[in-house]
Amino acid sequence: MRVLYAILATLLAAPANSKYIVPGGRWHDTNGTLINAHGAGITFDQKTGRFWWFGEYKTQAQPEGGGVSVYSSEDLCPIDSHPYISPDNIIQRPKVAYSPETDDYHMWWHADNSTYGLLLQGHAVSSTIGGPYTFVDATAPLGNWSQDFGMFTDYKDGRSYALYSNGDSVNGRDVYISSMNDNLTALEKAVYRFPKFDLEAPSIMQTEKSYWALMSHKTGYRPNNVVAFRADSLSGPWSQPFIAAPLNTRTFNSQSGFVLRIPGSKKTTYLYIGDQWDSNTIWESRYIWLPITIDEKEENLELAWHDVYDLDSKTGEWTPIKGTTYTAQNAKTSGDAYKQEANFATDGVIITGVYGNDSTVTFEGIEGSGEPQWVSFYYQNTDDMGFGDQPGGTPDRIGGSWRLRRISSVVVNGDTSNVQTLYQRDTHKGIILSTPLQLTLKKGKANTITVGGLYNGFDFKGADLDRIIIYPPEAKGK
Ligand SMILES: *[C@@H]1O[C@H](CO)[C@@H](O)[C@H](O)[C@H]1NC(C)=O
Ligand SMILES: *[C@@H]1O[C@H](CO)[C@@H](O)[C@H](O)[C@H]1NC(C)=O
Ligand SMILES: *[C@@H]1O[C@H](CO)[C@@H](O)[C@H](O)[C@H]1NC(C)=O
Ligand SMILES: *[C@@H]1O[C@H](CO)[C@@H](O)[C@H](O)[C@H]1NC(C)=O
Ligand SMILES: *[C@@H]1O[C@H](CO)[C@@H](O)[C@H](O)[C@H]1NC(C)=O
Repeated sequence: MRVLYAILATLLAAPANSKYIVPGGRWHDTNGTLINAHGAGITFDQKTGRFWWFGEYKTQAQPEGGGVSVYSSEDLCPIDSHPYISPDNIIQRPKVAYSPETDDYHMWWHADNSTYGLLLQGHAVSSTIGGPYTFVDATAPLGNWSQDFGMFTDYKDGRSYALYSNGDSVNGRDVYISSMNDNLTALEKAVYRFPKFDLEAPSIMQTEKSYWALMSHKTGYRPNNVVAFRADSLSGPWSQPFIAAPLNTRTFNSQSGFVLRIPGSKKTTYLYIGDQWDSNTIWESRYIWLPITIDEKEENLELAWHDVYDLDSKTGEWTPIKGTTYTAQNAKTSGDAYKQEANFATDGVIITGVYGNDSTVTFEGIEGSGEPQWVSFYYQNTDDMGFGDQPGGTPDRIGGSWRLRRISSVVVNGDTSNVQTLYQRDTHKGIILSTPLQLTLKKGKANTITVGGLYNGFDFKGADLDRIIIYPPEAKGK
């Protein structure tokens, strides 16, 4: 028997005590360290009255997973510290559920060796949710293979299910829903098989009337269009898959893996908990959390983007935060950066040719608060459709591969001693996405923000810029 060591840090997005959720931002724990809990599972624990976020602890030395981290929070905000779990083999997509029968917590995950040849499910148990967890076994579920792992607990009858894609081989390429026994120590039987869609990263969410399954295509750490299925019953029949987020955004550059149900006092909110993998620096990959909109009548589910939203995990209510927009049309360019007609852009204009220190864009007359506040940069990065001549190639041509990101420099009020790095992941032609940075502007309307290009492993190109939106800092003492 192997004891898994645990370390625990805390939740959630900076600044401390914030309830603002900022998808894709750099999120820090209460220690100021980047949150490191990928392929997440989030469990609400009745005993502690808190949410517990479990995920893969990734490091430069162990990019495929160096254990399990767990962060806890009373209301999705920072609280206290705990241990993380670190065995030798790969632990991916850990999930935890509570068994009332045996009064203990069960962690299940995709257990594998470094070449992904084992395709097993790991199981560990603990008498407290924060651990330490004791390793029980790694097994083949009902004799089959198991790749990306998900877990779902039916809120109506309390039964839990394992969700897993059963590998890439021709005999696999299915996703299974298998029921677990009452005490969560073993799988019981396959309840449904999604046949040969060849999907991964499965999760299930449950509304009053329906079950919804979300899964991604298999493009490794590169994002794709996540699909959803709907059914009245877990055993099916399930609908055809349909695309959950706006087309060609590749699910806002993220992969599915979990849905958090927040049954608040005023409404039930469902949060899509996605990973924005960054295979260049996997350990600092970001998290994309977005509210899911459900239309039972149309049998449809949708993911829409919000730069910043305020979530009250007690009432279940969430509100998008309004910001102030500064457009490319009114910005100043230098060097070879220039404004170009773009019928899909704000004001029909986008700024392109951003490069290095000399070809930059400056937004002027920006009103600041004097405190750290979130700024969203709306950009287009078309690398995926070009550069077939270089190793950074393109997925939309034969033999292509992605560069994944450009990097821009962001300088406030000309202070080049404090350059911020802005990752701008590939979009498609005509697709404008946003990515946030937390900046401190002076109080008043005299601020400037200058954007240039930083080296991304290929060149110093920054992405094309459409607009920036400045969000108010969150009120203190909330
Ligand atoms: C947080 O910081 C304290 C003090 O530096 C340290 O003892 C503790 O281990 C840190 N916790 C985590 C989870 O990094
Ligand atoms: C992983 O397991 C598979 C199946 O047993 C085996 O073929 C492969 O060599 C193992 N990889 C490593 C690195 O041990
Ligand atoms: C494993 O999965 C494959 C593909 O879904 C299926 O044909 C096979 O029957 C499964 N094997 C077992 C032992 O369940
Ligand atoms: C768990 O449940 C199974 C059947 O559902 C039973 O056979 C087994 O004894 C139980 N184990 C424990 C530790 O309760
Ligand atoms: C931009 O300026 C920094 C120092 O201010 C320098 O290190 C860097 O090489 C410059 N980049 C380009 C592309 O000129």
